[in-house]
Amino acid sequence: MTADEAPPADGGTGRAGPPGFDISVAHQARMYDYLLGGKDNYAADRAAAQAWLEIDPDIAFGARANRAFLGRAVRYLTAEAGIRQFLDIGTGIPTAGNTHHVAQEIAPDSRVVYVDYDPIVLAHARALLTSSEEGATDYIDADLRDTGTILTQAAQMLDFTRPVAITLIAILHAIPDSDDPYAIVATLMDAVPSGSYLALSHSASDLLRAGQRQGLENVTSRMIQQQFTYRSHEQVAGFFAGMDLLAPGLVRVEEWRPDPGTNGPGRSHLWCAVGRKR
Ligand SMILES: C[S@@+](CC[C@H](N)C(=O)[O-])C[C@H]1O[C@@H](n2cnc3c(N)ncnc32)[C@H](O)[C@@H]1O
Repeated sequence: MTADEAPPADGGTGRAGPPGFDISVAHQARMYDYLLGGKDNYAADRAAAQAWLEIDPDIAFGARANRAFLGRAVRYLTAEAGIRQFLDIGTGIPTAGNTHHVAQEIAPDSRVVYVDYDPIVLAHARALLTSSEEGATDYIDADLRDTGTILTQAAQMLDFTRPVAITLIAILHAIPDSDDPYAIVATLMDAVPSGSYLALSHSASDLLRAGQRQGLENVTSRMIQQQFTYRSHEQVAGFFAGMDLLAPGLVRVEEWRPDPGTNGPGRSHLWCAVGRKR
């Protein structure tokens, strides 16, 4: 779908619920698509992303670095940790290097279940269901806060008696404290056995310069349908309760096991880590 083929607007469903097909309000998935150079975005998404860029010119670098972290984490989990099952929540609009592409290139029998609540991501879900013959992919249209639905439906494809990697890449900052994101992550990790992994990245409150955070919060409250909750290094580390962090620990996305020679200019404002359940 291109920006000229706007889906019918049914109005937003409110800040707390899933976003509707309201193209007059910016959506996180479509802004991220714009920052990554994609075409599945509308004027409101581009305007909000431009307003962000004016306050924080490193945001486009951060989007690319975040996507690259996703690729390196999935590559590590498949090639080195031997994981063959992934639950990728907050999938985003498909682009290069989706989780199943990375995992199945290394291990064709990998099984990947995607979850997102954005109607535009759902419209593109076909592109995520192009599995290798040996493996499998599935897509669940659900809100991260609805862990019951996610776990029940994912269990139709994933074997929860064997290790699973849960990826929550650039999504938890869309969950306000009032929805208890720590309980959501704990519920998901309780459902998987010891030796499972959690990979996440998260917008950092303590990597922004003075004034930037307030400016970004003003933009998100005025222009973007979903809420954004920036969290500190300590707060993001709190998501890994009961897990051991892999080296190098909780770092900026571009600092997590970078490929040699890929250190470009720019600094992201996103913390990330990969943890192994004890
Ligand atoms: C910034 S994109 C990240 C995409 C991908 N994980 C990546 O890092 O490249 C965040 C995605 O999370 C989704 N999302 C945000 N809040 C969500 C929620 N409560 N439930 C399900 N998906 C959500 C958005 O629709 C969007 O597609």
